[in-house]
Amino acid sequence: MYENITPEYNAALDVIIRARRSVRAFSPIPPERKAIEAIIRAGLFAPFPALAVAAQSLSFCLQNMWLKATSLGIGFQLVSAAMQMDSDPDFCKLLSIPCGEYALDGCALGYPADTCQPPSVEYPTADKSVSWL
Ligand SMILES: Cc1cc2nc3c(=O)[nH]c(=O)nc-3n(C[C@H](O)[C@H](O)[C@H](O)COP(=O)(O)O)c2cc1C
Repeated sequence: MYENITPEYNAALDVIIRARRSVRAFSPIPPERKAIEAIIRAGLFAPFPALAVAAQSLSFCLQNMWLKATSLGIGFQLVSAAMQMDSDPDFCKLLSIPCGEYALDGCALGYPADTCQPPSVEYPTADKSVSWL
């Protein structure tokens, strides 16, 4: 099933996962449409629920998009305020979707500004985060 996935891909994925950060200061130069389409496509490969449209599935979609954006050198920021806009008639009209029928989530994309320097984070270690059964 995974025959095509080489150790190099594995190493590259580790680099991208570690490089992923919230970018909240963007360059005025917008990413190319092709790059944005590639990011959206990555989101569409996320797992989805068989029966219900759960807001949780949007998180998987956004995570795929975030990792793809990182791999393209494009910054990404979650915009959770969009979740509260699912019943806002003006916002739904802007998106051309029926009001109140879809769960929403949002993100901002752009090349990181030169000044962008995400704060350092101390991540938990696996030792402290896992109880083996
Ligand atoms: C459920 C969820 C919602 C979030 N919503 C926002 C948001 O609306 N705006 C924002 O700037 N960051 C948002 N974040 C990003 C977190 O603030 C960020 O991931 C965290 O500070 C760690 O920083 P990092 O992404 O650079 O690793 C959200 C994160 C999660 C998990």
